[in-house]
Amino acid sequence: MQLDFQSPEFIANPYPTYARLREQAPVYLLESGNWLITRYHDIEYLLKSPRLNKDIPSMFNLRYGRDMSNEPVFRFHNNFWTMMDTPHQRKLIVKALNARKISDVRALVKNSAEQLISKWIACGQADLMNVFAYPLPIQVTCDMLNIELEQSLDFLEEIKLILRPAEPNLLNEAELDVSNAAALRLDRFFREICQQRRKQPGDDLVSQLLAAEEDGERLSEDDVICNLIMLFVSGYGTTANALCNILRLLFIYPDQRELLLAKPELFSNTVEEGLRFNSSGPLTFRTVIEPFEFNGVQIAPGDAIYLALDSANHDPEVFVDPDRFWIERPDLNKSLAFGLGSHYCLGARLGAVEVEVALETLFCKLPNLTIENVDQLKWEQIWVLRGLESLPVKW
Ligand code: HEM
Repeated sequence: MQLDFQSPEFIANPYPTYARLREQAPVYLLESGNWLITRYHDIEYLLKSPRLNKDIPSMFNLRYGRDMSNEPVFRFHNNFWTMMDTPHQRKLIVKALNARKISDVRALVKNSAEQLISKWIACGQADLMNVFAYPLPIQVTCDMLNIELEQSLDFLEEIKLILRPAEPNLLNEAELDVSNAAALRLDRFFREICQQRRKQPGDDLVSQLLAAEEDGERLSEDDVICNLIMLFVSGYGTTANALCNILRLLFIYPDQRELLLAKPELFSNTVEEGLRFNSSGPLTFRTVIEPFEFNGVQIAPGDAIYLALDSANHDPEVFVDPDRFWIERPDLNKSLAFGLGSHYCLGARLGAVEVEVALETLFCKLPNLTIENVDQLKWEQIWVLRGLESLPVKW
């Protein structure tokens, strides 16, 4: 079966292709030589398998054909992912990230959302992606760290530069220099903040990361800085895209929007169902550490395996009527939108609350909100994330 995963048709609607793969080629060899897995139960099994790990530093070296660990921008990514593969370090980060009560997180997100909306509410129309969805997670993370957004750096721009190593295309030397410079600026910025918080700790996330302790162990200052930067990086695109994808679904399926507005207690379900239906993090990958046979296919050490979480989330073996967007769905707890097992999304609680409160605030402040030509919106042409190019709205 010859398939083009970069084609606009696939990106716009990958689900029929996934349905074919689940039926005819559930372990599919991609042109790049990597495997693609599409069935729910296979993905569930592999996410828990000790034969696979998530070795991102080795993947970078393999892609670039040289050791990238001394380049500042890759150093952040490498340190961070190495920590994510070390259960002890991961526990320290989870502890700091979940230190705040959920009610406090909700209040913080609501406040940021209202502040942002007040800046453009008088305009009557806007690209919601630019004025709301992208700035919101950055603003919320700054609030959690207790730092001023406009302090001295354009965070959104710096984060985009730091994210570049994760893009499918390799960076050339000039691009690498630009990303390295951003990494060094962020490093300097956060090092100063860490020094201030050591002298005067507060109840912010920087102080919590500096103080987090597990069995007498703490994170070093370098580890804290790397985590702070990577929390911005991992949280902002997934959350921004989730928010816009779900808003789009609510206008494509007006009966579900009406149901939601009539029963606001369904906001949390709506976010979960939106993430299942059009996941903003549709794909994850693992590297094989031990050889094994899977569905009759021989998998070798060093092979990369892509796990299509959004295909799993449309598998009729697990979900009733999987291609229906249904906010009262009874099987939502099976969704793999945040992954599963030892690498389950670290920001799942925060991401879900951000999207939920952002939607509630939007519908409250802009009751006449409409999306222009909702069935013609364009998707970003990238397989590894699911997001819109822009979201023009009026109210
Ligand atoms: C609605 C928004 C979000 C979605 C859909 C999402 C989805 C995901 C997915 C699918 C994974 C991969 C799991 C795996 O490889 O098994 C992941 C990992 C991760 N996410 Fe999220 N995420 C969201 C928000 C956030 C936020 C707000 C943060 C940070 C504050 C965050 C931090 C992370 C981190 C650090 C990892 C790596 C965990 C590891 O590999 O151990 N995410 N996320």
